[in-house]
Amino acid sequence: MTSLSPPANKLWWNEPIEKTELLWISLVFVWGLVMTFMMPFWHITGDQNLSTETYRTTPEAFLAKAQKMVDKYTVRKDGPRQTPVVKPPAGSDVYLVARLWDWWPSLELQKGQSYRFHLSSMDWQHGFSLQPANINIQVLPDYEHVVQFTPNKTGEYSVICNEYCGIGHHLMIGKIYVVD
Ligand code: CUA
Repeated sequence: MTSLSPPANKLWWNEPIEKTELLWISLVFVWGLVMTFMMPFWHITGDQNLSTETYRTTPEAFLAKAQKMVDKYTVRKDGPRQTPVVKPPAGSDVYLVARLWDWWPSLELQKGQSYRFHLSSMDWQHGFSLQPANINIQVLPDYEHVVQFTPNKTGEYSVICNEYCGIGHHLMIGKIYVVD
């Protein structure tokens, strides 16, 4: 029987299932179950899928909070766009603005200190990818994600946008400096 011939029995679900097909369906079902249980497992044991707190916000409200931090704690300017480098106190709330096409501002953080990272977008979807820590979070307008982050290595971290956001997507790279 080929798939082109109509089923002998109109109630096709009453037809016997071919052995190999049944085997594949069972394998897929079991694998689906395994992956379902792996999700909470990865959440607990993995470093990538952090728990986030999420709040409603607006681009204006979020930018105002970021601006306040920038005004208070900017220590120098950096790069071709003269991006402010902000050194907020250890343990404090840190705001990072995603927009077409930059992460604003740059940050200087202390190694071993924990920070509450607030992320939101001014326009549309961006992806916060912190390398080499390998943290990935979607960043959306009108939502404020908060993650606890403790940098444990000194050096220069790059924040890369990993959601395609238009012609300048590849230029959307932010900087986080971790110092002793
Ligand atoms: Cu922002 Cu891609």
